[in-house]
Amino acid sequence: MLKRLIIAIDGYSACGKSTTARAVARILGYRYIDTGAMYRAVTLYFLDHHVAITNPKEVARALDNITISFRVNPAGDSDTYLNGLNVEQEIRELRVAESVSQVSALKPVREKLVQQQRKIGKDKGIVMDGRDIGTVVFPDADLKFFMTADITVRAERRQRELLEKNILADLDSVIQNIMERDRIDTTRSESPLRQAPDAIVLDTTHLTIDEQVDEVVRRAVSLMLKPR
Ligand code: DC
Repeated sequence: MLKRLIIAIDGYSACGKSTTARAVARILGYRYIDTGAMYRAVTLYFLDHHVAITNPKEVARALDNITISFRVNPAGDSDTYLNGLNVEQEIRELRVAESVSQVSALKPVREKLVQQQRKIGKDKGIVMDGRDIGTVVFPDADLKFFMTADITVRAERRQRELLEKNILADLDSVIQNIMERDRIDTTRSESPLRQAPDAIVLDTTHLTIDEQVDEVVRRAVSLMLKPR
């Protein structure tokens, strides 16, 4: 039996983490977990229910009312569900992107989601992407990657991705949003975005998606074949 791995992919916003992670999971027959989608779903709930993030009681009550799950759609991709409703499209909107870093900086939010992420990953055979997977969620992950890329390249990719979902956004707003998210994600006190010491750095500025995917799969396969 091949060893089943936990593959952690962390890094800055819009570096291609989820595209890479999804493709790797498909090739290896693993489960893909988009933890950013979980933070986005909580943010969507907070926005729609006008939850004051400065009020701990309101935050706690809201978190008690939130259930996040993933279901595979007919195209074979995993969609995010918030309290039983498919929110895959809504969580990608700019209004969510603009608030998600503030919401994901809250300790109770992180505690709830990290606990769920660990439960999902306990049987291994997963590719999980986010900001704190290799540092906090699975510090013992078998394989860790830290993705980075030039800011303009990242913004152009994100803009294209949004366009494919029929969401129009101008490049400057996308750049501002990504930079602001990077700033908050790296400077927050609760599990800031950090490169794990044992993470492999993947700078994707000049890489195609196929090249990124190949690199991760190649390393995963060589680890799976390594005698225990
Ligand atoms: O990967 P993404 O852009 O969909 O993530 C959205 C936000 O969620 C990101 O700005 C920071 C937060 N996040 C986090 O704090 N921890 C994670 N493991 C994943 C995402």
